[in-house]
Amino acid sequence: MTHFKRNRSKPTKLQSVIAIPTPARIESSIQHRFLRGPLSKVSALYPGSFDPPTNGHLDLIERGAKIFAELVVGILRNSEKSPMFSLAERLEMLKTLTAHLKNVRIEAFHGLMVEYAKSIDATCVLRGIRAVSDYEYELQMALMNRKLEPTLETVFMMPADKYSYVSSRLVREVAQVGGPVKGLVPEVVEQKLREKLEPAYKFHDEMQGVTARASVRKERKRKS
Ligand code: PNS
Repeated sequence: MTHFKRNRSKPTKLQSVIAIPTPARIESSIQHRFLRGPLSKVSALYPGSFDPPTNGHLDLIERGAKIFAELVVGILRNSEKSPMFSLAERLEMLKTLTAHLKNVRIEAFHGLMVEYAKSIDATCVLRGIRAVSDYEYELQMALMNRKLEPTLETVFMMPADKYSYVSSRLVREVAQVGGPVKGLVPEVVEQKLREKLEPAYKFHDEMQGVTARASVRKERKRKS
């Protein structure tokens, strides 16, 4: 590692070779901006189950919308899984949530994702990586997709770290027993979960009331 002397006197021969003069630094930042150009012409597909859409999904859609010319959110019409939300519900929720993003389109697809990407002229697939645990599955999927369609590139982006533990599966698990999902999913989704799982939420709210009354009684007894 090279250590430069702090004094600003005449640079040594080595320093003059290594130090990056100001014009070169400016040039490199211009080059960086230039390199972002081609990406802004790219149409990308963000495929997933979105059952339900989470704040992590929304965060990634917003990030993707900033760097791609067009972003198609493709909801998999999966006959193998039995989803909590119907395809129509997921389409409606995602359309509402992305109405403010003019270059985002919500669609449904079935069959091979790479074939759907080709049919909509998407040349990139966007996927989110939250933690190392996602990496193996995502790598396998990206490589399989590359084998199926070598011209399709997978681009990974990280959602905000506050959503790094949020997944649709965990949201479903918490909501199925009436647990709070505030902050994990957008409000529209939270409302839909409450409607769909009304008995579970009712039971959970009643139990909370019982617990609260019991602790008031305990506190009164302690003070008396
Ligand atoms: O949100 P998910 O469930 O992680 O999304 C997975 C999805 C929909 C991207 C993946 O299962 C998929 O692309 N399915 C379509 C069928 C396909 O092309 N399978 C090969 C993937 S290697």
